[in-house]
Amino acid sequence: MEKRFKIAGSILSADLLNLEKDIKDALDAGVDVIHFDVMDYHFVPNLTFGPAFLAAIKKKFPNAILDVHLMVSPVTEDIVRDYANAGATWISIHPESTFHVQRMLSFIKSLNVKAGLVLNPATPPSSLRYLFDVLDFVLVMTVNPGFGGQKLIPSCIQKITDIKRMATEMNVKPIIEVDGGVCKDNIKLLAEAGASVFVVGSAFFGQEDRKEALNLLNKALD
Ligand code: DX5
Ligand code: ZN
Repeated sequence: MEKRFKIAGSILSADLLNLEKDIKDALDAGVDVIHFDVMDYHFVPNLTFGPAFLAAIKKKFPNAILDVHLMVSPVTEDIVRDYANAGATWISIHPESTFHVQRMLSFIKSLNVKAGLVLNPATPPSSLRYLFDVLDFVLVMTVNPGFGGQKLIPSCIQKITDIKRMATEMNVKPIIEVDGGVCKDNIKLLAEAGASVFVVGSAFFGQEDRKEALNLLNKALD
């Protein structure tokens, strides 16, 4: 049976020179998803991981769910295809990064990859109403993207509730993932609002005792 909640460890906060060990330990400890942030120094003020890096992870961990969060602008079909070919299981894009959001989501799905739309803190959820048929998940940012270790912006929690209500009204069940400042003290609140996949960077990879950190997250969700 599918787990009710999934924890997605964000490698942005991992030890990059020991990444193979970090990912192995995370998966062994029960982390469900590996969250892979792609930044271009343009859409966000930071720069990270290309497709060759993702392919290297895929080679070592062929069965892991690889969740690629594209913070690049403009996002193009070539970029999406490169990450799909490199082994992405899920790919999410921001609506600000293309004029043709519906087409890009359909393109992701045509590559047999789960498609997600990411909403920045100031981005309203209204266009989701017209996109549910090409969407597998919604990624709600609870910080402004670009860096790990920021504090969750409380007003974003209402957006999860709003999306949940809209989806129920329309009789659809998109997965709601949440990213930014998630920790043991707010994870339950996020779950109650309707999220079921939780990205954790600093609250997992950033902790000395990661096993214990994961235990505390899971315990808070109970
Ligand atoms: C932020 C990234 C996040 C980041 C989360 O732009 O999208 O995935 O790694 O890190 P924490 O959990 O530390 O906020
Ligand atoms: Zn992310």
